[in-house]
Amino acid sequence: MKPRPRVFVTRVIPDAGLDRVREACDLDLWEDDMPPARDELLRRVAGVDGLLSLLTDRVDDELLDAAGPQLKVVSNFAVGFDNIDVPALTKRRLPAGNTPGVLTETTADLAFALLMAAARRIPESVDYVREGRWKTWGPMLLMGVDIHGATLGIVGFGRIGREMARRGRGFGMNVIYHDVHPATPGEEAELGARRVEMDELLRDSDFVSLHVNLTEETNHLIDADALRAMKPTAVLVNTSRGPVVDAGALETALRDGEIFAAGLDVTDPEPLPVDHPLVAMPNCVVVPHIASATRVTRDRMAAMAAANLLAGMRGERLPTPINPEVYE
Ligand code: DGY
Repeated sequence: MKPRPRVFVTRVIPDAGLDRVREACDLDLWEDDMPPARDELLRRVAGVDGLLSLLTDRVDDELLDAAGPQLKVVSNFAVGFDNIDVPALTKRRLPAGNTPGVLTETTADLAFALLMAAARRIPESVDYVREGRWKTWGPMLLMGVDIHGATLGIVGFGRIGREMARRGRGFGMNVIYHDVHPATPGEEAELGARRVEMDELLRDSDFVSLHVNLTEETNHLIDADALRAMKPTAVLVNTSRGPVVDAGALETALRDGEIFAAGLDVTDPEPLPVDHPLVAMPNCVVVPHIASATRVTRDRMAAMAAANLLAGMRGERLPTPINPEVYE
């Protein structure tokens, strides 16, 4: 009997994916809540045919060398893949997969939830009640900023950015966006969004929501200058990747009233230490990278990650390859 392929899965993912892997492979599963330490990861990948990685695992030359030449596929349980050195895989003609499409709406839902929570000071208000400070109705109490009628500026107009636009339109917002790849006039009309340059977006938006991949170009895209260019009443929402925002500059901007508030699903560093100044700021709503965290969506991500892994080990084209150039 042909030996079953060996795979390492770097964290427990939903059974919707794990069961498929278990059925077809000799599975080594990292069961701890924390990711494997680097040396452990390098040890566990040695000799595997497939790797199912998370955004907390760096996949680079060192790891690929540690795995060995029999490795056939890397399947990332995420749509973002900044943890993967794609050229390092491509030069070995090794396919990598991600999980696009299945988490689009769920992520946009959370981005909009952060927008609303920061605008209407929901966490602060909840604390106010919990701490027993609610003594009467107050005409000046916990005033926020309006969402309806406001301008939503979307940076990065891919799948998730466009879903954010739909949510904005549903709330009666005026939607503008910036992306190096403009949408077609038909798409703009359908989404009710208008493309503007970045400086115009920062100047005119009441809400700036980030939906770009993390690349060299987008690292610290929102820096001190960008924050200063925003309205003092503006809210920044980040559900992309932490380093897209300069955390030090954001801290200054929030403290000095350069912007009104921020809602962050992603941070730099990540996780954000509990004693980090942003955690204590009342006008900064931080949640622990949960944008895709619903049962249905995580099941879909798991199924998709398993499908990529299994296809790669059969030598078939991955359903959703990150580097389709390996098939050229
Ligand atoms: C992703 O998929 O890239 C998210 O950050 C986690 O779902």
